[in-house]
Amino acid sequence: MPDTIKAWLYGTHIANLTGRDTGKKIDMEYTHDAIDRWGIGSKILSLSMPLSTRPVPPKRSTSFFRGLLPEGQQLTAIARQIDVAESNTFALLRDYGKDVAGAIYLTNGDEHEPSPPTEYRKISKKDLARLVNETRLNQNPGESHPLGNTREHKGRSLDGYQGKLLVAKFGNDWFMPSQDGSPSTHIAKPPSNQADYPDLTMNEAVTMQWATLVGVTSTKTEIITDGDYRFMVQSRYDRLIEGPFRVSRIHQEDGCQATGTDPSRKYQSHGGPTLRLLAMLTGIAERESLLAQLVFRVVVGDTDAHAKNFSWLHQPDGKVTLAPLYDSQPGLHYVSNSLAQTVGTAETFPQLELDDIFEEASKWAITPKKSHAIVSDTVTKMADTIRSVDLTPANPSAFKIVKNRLDDFTKELKNQ
Ligand SMILES: Nc1ncnc2c1ncn2[C@@H]1O[C@H](COP(=O)(O)OP(=O)(O)OP(=O)(O)O)[C@@H](O)[C@H]1O
Ligand SMILES: [Mg+2]
Repeated sequence: MPDTIKAWLYGTHIANLTGRDTGKKIDMEYTHDAIDRWGIGSKILSLSMPLSTRPVPPKRSTSFFRGLLPEGQQLTAIARQIDVAESNTFALLRDYGKDVAGAIYLTNGDEHEPSPPTEYRKISKKDLARLVNETRLNQNPGESHPLGNTREHKGRSLDGYQGKLLVAKFGNDWFMPSQDGSPSTHIAKPPSNQADYPDLTMNEAVTMQWATLVGVTSTKTEIITDGDYRFMVQSRYDRLIEGPFRVSRIHQEDGCQATGTDPSRKYQSHGGPTLRLLAMLTGIAERESLLAQLVFRVVVGDTDAHAKNFSWLHQPDGKVTLAPLYDSQPGLHYVSNSLAQTVGTAETFPQLELDDIFEEASKWAITPKKSHAIVSDTVTKMADTIRSVDLTPANPSAFKIVKNRLDDFTKELKNQ
């Protein structure tokens, strides 16, 4: 009898997962309970894996579940914590699958816990700063607490390359989820330890505060200072705080998961999905929101807007909406000037013109009139709100480039 992981979603045992090839491949079958609740063909778990009585194609299920795990040294650290190979997705999901992006909740063996525990330990701001620092990628992976997991308390995973701590905030107080699977409500990011990007986190914090004012995201981003140590904390849009210690999860998937793409192909140049493929996943209203997010990222000069930096939310009734914008920051003051996904015909920022955005929008079947209105509205809001953002924690040369770009876009739009 193979080892099985049970996947739960919105209180329903939705699927069974088994591992193959030393956990590198994940086979998945939906349950009768899932089919009874949502029906054959429902895309409640993923736009790339409709509910069916047949097993899900293993490439799809493997890519999807691999996509719940972190990359780089975060992955190395969680794999070392339980002494398995980084490629052993199955073993990693078994131990780190209780607080992930979205609402999936994984149990194993005879564990019967469809509803998440809700135990939290209060921590001071100083503790928070120390714990955030301990997730930094340059720590000895054996000693670090990746995503806040310790050998005793695991269960947390989040994709992405940067160090992170998954925490909770109720009122003005900070908490560590103290039992495997208690939902986090916030994501904290330490300063990047990558030598080439020392300013990355503060630039992201400021960009995300700006994005909130522009209205392309609903997340709230704080910059927290402890002495001269500064880090960012952002509210999770896939969590609903119903009261102190009462949190429900909202399911989400990213652009790789939604298109059945392996996370290693998140960039279009590595075989990842095009913007059009992502846009056409949903109806016109979501495409229009995606266009506003694209405009924001293009003006910012975000060189890392790959398929895992766009997500879609799945409500329990099956409704799918574009997730708010996240993980955006200027990139043009670094060496790279490439676009993570082609826009119109442009593959790099120097090639990109306003017309490329309109061309891209027309590929998504947005009318010229509507796309003009969205571009103009987003750029105007960006220009109106940048004055309200405290840019001082960020790198001034990065934001000088951003401001020049904003001026150029504003002028170009006036001349249209
Ligand atoms: N505010 C948020 N609320 C809910 N989920 C989020 C939020 N921000 C990020 N996520 C989820 O967490 C994942 C990782 O976050 P993020 O993209 O910020 O990490 P990263 O390490 O900077 O990524 P990258 O590898 O692209 O640099 C995202 O792909 C998304 O699924
Ligand atoms: Mg990311």
